[in-house]
Amino acid sequence: MYRLDEHVVDEIRQRLDIVEVIGEYVPLRRAGREYVALCPFHQERTPSFTVSPAKQMFYCFGCQVGGDVFTFVMKKEGWTFPEAVAELARRAGVTLPERPLSPGQRRARDRQEQLARVLDLAAALFRQALRSPAGEAARTYLEERGLPPAIWDRYGLGYAPAGWDGLVRALQKRGVPPALMVEAGLAQARPGGGYYDRFRHRLMFPITDPRGRVVGFGGRSLDGQEPKYLNSPETPLFSKRRLWYGLDWARPRLRETGTAVVVEGYMDAIAVDRAGVGYAAVASLGTSLSEEQVELLARYVQQVIIAYDADAAGQRATLRGLELFADAGVEVRVAQLPPGRDPDDVVRREGPDALRRVLDAAVPVVEYRFRQVMAEVDTATPRGRARAAAELAPWLARVRHPVERGEYVRRYALSLGLEEGVLWQEVRRAARGLRRAASQAAGRPGGNNVQAVRHTNRRVPVEEVPAGIARAERGLVAASLFHPEWRDYIAARLEPGDWVTPAHRLLFELAGTMDPVDPGRMLSRLHALAAAAEAEAQTGAEAGAGTETGSETGPVAEPAAGSRPGAGVPEVGEVRVPGAVGEATPGGPAGQAGGAAGAGKGQAGEGQTGPVVESNKDRDPLQRGAGERLDVAVIQEAASVLAALVQSPEPEPDEPGERERILEDYIKTLKRHSLWKIQRRIAHLEASGRAVPVDLVAKFQLLSAQLKGRAGG
Ligand code: UTP
Ligand code: MN
Repeated sequence: MYRLDEHVVDEIRQRLDIVEVIGEYVPLRRAGREYVALCPFHQERTPSFTVSPAKQMFYCFGCQVGGDVFTFVMKKEGWTFPEAVAELARRAGVTLPERPLSPGQRRARDRQEQLARVLDLAAALFRQALRSPAGEAARTYLEERGLPPAIWDRYGLGYAPAGWDGLVRALQKRGVPPALMVEAGLAQARPGGGYYDRFRHRLMFPITDPRGRVVGFGGRSLDGQEPKYLNSPETPLFSKRRLWYGLDWARPRLRETGTAVVVEGYMDAIAVDRAGVGYAAVASLGTSLSEEQVELLARYVQQVIIAYDADAAGQRATLRGLELFADAGVEVRVAQLPPGRDPDDVVRREGPDALRRVLDAAVPVVEYRFRQVMAEVDTATPRGRARAAAELAPWLARVRHPVERGEYVRRYALSLGLEEGVLWQEVRRAARGLRRAASQAAGRPGGNNVQAVRHTNRRVPVEEVPAGIARAERGLVAASLFHPEWRDYIAARLEPGDWVTPAHRLLFELAGTMDPVDPGRMLSRLHALAAAAEAEAQTGAEAGAGTETGSETGPVAEPAAGSRPGAGVPEVGEVRVPGAVGEATPGGPAGQAGGAAGAGKGQAGEGQTGPVVESNKDRDPLQRGAGERLDVAVIQEAASVLAALVQSPEPEPDEPGERERILEDYIKTLKRHSLWKIQRRIAHLEASGRAVPVDLVAKFQLLSAQLKGRAGG
């Protein structure tokens, strides 16, 4: 499989100046040896975002996001690592090594590039035609719809002239062979020979890919011709499943707000943008939402507001789309538009403020479903109540925050006239179903990309582990980075499974392969790993192997398993059944939850019982057991931690022997945590009447003996 070489990454980084690149996005102010700015990744009033020209890294003390120039553009632009490399390489004037392409692949790629050029040319011709005498009708139409000439270019609006072969001839004059026009979806062959335009007398909306290239068009009929909107056919570049209309111009605001308004129509996306109500919208190209679209949008935002007209919003296909978003960890709200109106109608009839009100008042999807169900179901009958509970349960199970979830369950149980416990039971069953589906999806080749790989600026897991543990791990990582002489000492005492945070473990293992540690090179290495992990996830090859690992020995449950960030399916593990005795573990076998999440998110090392790593010098950190695949989010987080350690190093101990004592303390903290996890696991197995594996008991005894011994000595 193609793997991006870390040396190329290094070279690009060396040729670029991080200050210059970041300076294009944020106004940087010099402060001593560094530059500071208001952080582009979180809201703040005083600058805590720093860029170090010497280290070629950035770090925000506020939101603890950091890394190098690649990390920055990935976060800022929502690019994948290969996309970031491609763009920055171009900027740096570095020629990327050719992928080892087969002749067939090379032809396909060259063809795609030709197609992109043709489409770009066509877009320019359409824009020109809109301003030409032939474009009169289209201009009038745009005026009527409130779109003045000044804004046409923002959306690349154009006009495909009436007549049969205006575009074909114009392109031919510029040397484009007709076969290419057909392949680009711009022309069709006449049965009797010759070619004619696909788009005739239509207002043209160019549709771009995430890189901003025009890949297709939507053409609105101006004279009532059917269909109202004619789109490009599927071509090697234009795949409706993978595109959002408006993504290119909406992107900066999507990033800023972390929210996307999802609309149905081209005109709606433009209307939301034009309304200036602070939201950015993308349109879904007239088909039901696909996993690919959801994955793409999840790179940019943490929340979506669905703004379909009321009929469309209630349809099965739409609900499926909402599920896809929710299962990808995107928070879903539903805007309630007046019946039969789309966002564009609302703006035109009632003005921008009305649209703002509608969007601001969007309700969480669970609440939206509740209202629908209350309207659809006769809750006076037991049967109706059962149906309502079954409908609502999966949506309740997807509510991430346990307090919120509890709140909804209470309210809905009351409204439906159900025992709260009964509704909880449904919710737990639904949660199990969702987890099963997620782990099956993870095992399906090509499936579950949404959950397996995501670039987000979501909160980092490091912050979600107990503070003491995070500090201990950070201290151990820092020692291994800046005091290599202590690495073996740590490696001999810690098992991979003792690390709670995958990102910390990864850094520690990576440091073990480098002497001395150069943070820049380490970042290159991380990027290369991320690219490989992503490629792997795309093929889904390893994910399948990973599905099983959890259930056998059962990874020891994490303390905060329910709030594990980014896990595909929210856990209901923390839910307590009112009145239930003992520990509620509705997730079934504790391993199941971990297994599902582990397969998707590569929870490295969790519960691993492998041998102590004596020295990890010759161990490739990428070589992990099945189900331990490195996740891109983990790698990105590792980059942030690295930047943090470089920008704000740990204070140096001043007494001799002090460091050993500190490290020993850190190790003990992690060991104690491991012991606690095993205890919990054993207690759980016993409570559910299952056998406790011998090796688990042995491990427990060994650990407690070790801890006692050390505490005594
Ligand atoms: P609508 O029929 O709701 O149209 O289609 P609209 O967006 O409100 O259009 P205006 O305001 O009358 O101009 C919603 C979306 O569905 C797709 C298009 O993407 C459209 O924007 N669509 C609709 C098609 O692809 N083909 C069609 O024939 C109709
Ligand atoms: Mn409309």
